[in-house]
Amino acid sequence: MKLKDKTVIITGSGSGLGEQIAYRVANEGGKVVLVARTEKELRKVKDKIIKSKGAVEYFICDIRDIDQIKKTVNKIINKFSKIDILINNAGIWTDEELEKIDPDRRREAFETNSLGNINFTYEVLPYFKGRNKGYVFNIISTAGASDTPSGNNIFWKTYGATKWAMTGFTKALNDELKDTKIKVTSFHPGGFDSMLYEKAKRPNPHNQPWMMKTVDIAEIVLFILTRPDDVLIEKMIVSKK
Ligand SMILES: NC(=O)c1ccc[n+]([C@@H]2O[C@H](COP(=O)([O-])OP(=O)(O)OC[C@H]3O[C@@H](n4cnc5c(N)ncnc54)[C@H](OP(=O)(O)O)[C@@H]3O)[C@@H](O)[C@H]2O)c1
Repeated sequence: MKLKDKTVIITGSGSGLGEQIAYRVANEGGKVVLVARTEKELRKVKDKIIKSKGAVEYFICDIRDIDQIKKTVNKIINKFSKIDILINNAGIWTDEELEKIDPDRRREAFETNSLGNINFTYEVLPYFKGRNKGYVFNIISTAGASDTPSGNNIFWKTYGATKWAMTGFTKALNDELKDTKIKVTSFHPGGFDSMLYEKAKRPNPHNQPWMMKTVDIAEIVLFILTRPDDVLIEKMIVSKK
């Protein structure tokens, strides 16, 4: 029970990695706070956690809308009194190049993958600062890391740009919080099997040879989250062998 009574917000937890992290957090005794837009998916994850006697609640929130984020964080505080961990995981896929992409999709990608996560963090941060304790865990991608295998040009496309924004933000946030006990991690997984590519209507969205198992990635996230308070894993890159 390594997360006993910890309140853990997981954005984008109706499917994929966020869903798998939610089950592991619940198994470790954490109070799971699910956040996404699709109620049907959130309810399914909540029901599964309740069946296994875990503590969970969901909140429907589009992280592109700062007013929805503010209301959601207020509701979470009212229900759980405190927040211990924020996992910024919500994201969408796009493989178009910045110059070629439909401007609406470009905006959607940045407003979700970058600005939405940044805004969520700044709504939660006052609660962390008030206790001088807390953990911001940013799920980014190898597309937002320099020291990864080369071989494709994803890093220079829209998705890569949105993820690099998060890499820069994570670094800036770590500097901003250097004299506090609040931890910040940037987590950079390579491809894994989730709903990411299906939701973006990409061909062959599952079971590709380059994909890792989502449960394996969730296991690593749990390992990092459950280190002692004075041990920080600042950055981790995980790729398919
Ligand atoms: N799969 C990969 O190969 C891979 C590799 C590296 C990094 N990642 C990153 O891992 C994270 C999790 O993705 P995944 O692969 O697990 O994909 P996924 O199964 O599609 O999960 C993404 C989650 O984000 C939510 N979401 C999307 N837009 C949102 C919004 N505006 N507001 C709130 N929630 C929103 C989705 O739910 P709703 O649509 O219902 O809101 C869903 O729950 C993403 O940041 C992704 O970029 C994925």
